Amino acid sequence: MKRKFKKSWLNGKCVLLTGAGSGIGRELALVLSRIYGCKILAVGRREQNLQSLCEQEPNISAFVADISTQDGWSRIKEHADSLGFSVDVLVNNAGVIHPFKKLIYLTDEQIDKVIDTDYKSIIYSLRAFYPSLKNKKDAGFVTISSASAYLPVAGNAVYSSVKSASLAITEAIRQEVMVDGIFVSAVMPGPVVTDLYEPDGDEEKKAGDDVSKVGLDATVAAKRIAKKISVRKPLINIDVTARAMKLLRKVAPSGTVKLWAKLMRKANRPTFNQVFDDEKPVQNALN
Ligand SMILES: NC(=O)c1ccc[n+]([C@@H]2O[C@H](COP(=O)([O-])OP(=O)(O)OC[C@H]3O[C@@H](n4cnc5c(N)ncnc54)[C@H](OP(=O)(O)O)[C@@H]3O)[C@@H](O)[C@H]2O)c1
Repeated sequence: MKRKFKKSWLNGKCVLLTGAGSGIGRELALVLSRIYGCKILAVGRREQNLQSLCEQEPNISAFVADISTQDGWSRIKEHADSLGFSVDVLVNNAGVIHPFKKLIYLTDEQIDKVIDTDYKSIIYSLRAFYPSLKNKKDAGFVTISSASAYLPVAGNAVYSSVKSASLAITEAIRQEVMVDGIFVSAVMPGPVVTDLYEPDGDEEKKAGDDVSKVGLDATVAAKRIAKKISVRKPLINIDVTARAMKLLRKVAPSGTVKLWAKLMRKANRPTFNQVFDDEKPVQNALN
């Protein structure tokens, strides 16, 4: 039986989607394929996750690559070319977060991982695919940033600031590629229930437990994101948290950051206690 898709400029488009093996990316791949009739090239590192995604949808194929390196992007481009998969829309969704703790306790490795995955990959992806995107009639370039970009949070210093940078660079790219008619969008999710906060270890898991109490369901988040992309929204705030953070930051920038820290301190959650544990001697930092 022939499938009916929602009418949109996305219909039939070839979408390269990073971080598609889990969370928001996985749900977005399914929504773009099932509701908007896109063909998806799904990228990630865990092959098993990608394979199970491809088994769910015939229009999805997968490629294992590390998007945090220039070399990873050269391999993705070569693979797409070898398949004849001419990318119309590139979605930079893959991301990582560091353990929820004071900046002084983060290692260089943890910091670099977030910068390379959540920020530098945007630059590498543009270098690899701009030459082909600019010749398209209807191309798109989408970054999944975060509502933390609006509100730097204690314990999340590098992630929040890298997401601010990912928003800023996406908005700058929009100005640069406007002449080519490429649609550019930044997506700013508030908390969503995914594996992001539970990568490897109990320390991070505590943050995951807190997010799962207030987060949006990943399928709902993906549907909202796809709907806004389908109507070419340049800045996508998918939930009330993101909209509130944006507004508060605008009307009371420093007051909001202070208030947020006060609320976290008062909340007395295990996640936040690690950050506001003033008893911890600073000389232990970076041990
Ligand atoms: N969940 C939230 O509350 C929330 C809120 C705001 C923004 N976001 C953003 O939404 C995006 C998706 O995150 P998520 O919440 O869906 O978490 P997730 O389930 O952990 O998804 C992140 C994906 O990125 C992939 N990835 C990470 N590093 C990679 C690398 N070097 N190369 C290739 N793929 C890589 C992971 O797959 P592999 O490990 O298999 O590579 C994973 O599938 C991220 O950019 C995140 O910052 C999330």
